[in-house]
Amino acid sequence: MRVISLVLLIAVLAVQGNVPTCEESKALESTCGGYCFNVVKSLLDHSKAMQSELRYCNPNSESNIDALIEQRFKTLEAKVEKRLKDLPIKLPADIYPYEQIGSKFYLIEEGLYLNWSQANRLCLLTGGHLVHLQNRSELNAIIPRLSNNDYWLDINNILKEDDYVSKTSGKAPPFFAWFPNEPNKGQERCVELHNKFSVYAMSDAKCDSSYFNIICEKEFKD
Ligand SMILES: *[C@@H]1O[C@H](CO)[C@@H](O)[C@H](O)[C@H]1NC(C)=O
Ligand SMILES: *[C@@H]1O[C@H](CO)[C@@H](O)[C@H](O)[C@H]1NC(C)=O
Repeated sequence: MRVISLVLLIAVLAVQGNVPTCEESKALESTCGGYCFNVVKSLLDHSKAMQSELRYCNPNSESNIDALIEQRFKTLEAKVEKRLKDLPIKLPADIYPYEQIGSKFYLIEEGLYLNWSQANRLCLLTGGHLVHLQNRSELNAIIPRLSNNDYWLDINNILKEDDYVSKTSGKAPPFFAWFPNEPNKGQERCVELHNKFSVYAMSDAKCDSSYFNIICEKEFKD
């Protein structure tokens, strides 16, 4: 969970202009060790922000240090954004807790509350993709692991209202399990797995809704 949060932190850094706090930086260093810390660290080193941050961690530092850091990070935003684009799509597999459920591997992330594009991006960053359900048995295997109400799937009809497409395959999804009276379409162009009275089935939702949980799926080679 922590690692995922950190990945997310990196991912939203450019968009929201947030900076990692001392605590987060330390967590980043100790959690990621080499790889992803280096990615972030090189950004920080680049404008000597690292140095400021060390002082920021010191309670005896000057009182206007917050403003100074904020100013420095503002100028960093563009660089961070550029660097974010250079991030490799695949990060080391072993730091992400994908688990085997049935015959497939999934990462179930609850409580991050992302819109569809953010969820899609998060799955890509972990080397996977949003869950691509093949059939009823795959869905039935996952359901007992879920404890929230809304999870994004890899399906949307953003390009054409009548054509649902799996983001993973680029083709029509192999399996649907809609709730009665779903999909109701209109502005709802992304597909979710929704829980109503302990029944999980598909429903369409607005892609920019940001209260959703995530199921990523990943193919591991034997
Ligand atoms: C469902 O798909 C899985 C692959 O994930 C396959 O092994 C299984 O045989 C399929 N089950 C049915 C009932 O089609
Ligand atoms: C998802 O959220 C991000 C960050 O807030 C935003 O930039 C993006 O436009 C949103 N995507 C959609 C489809 O609303």
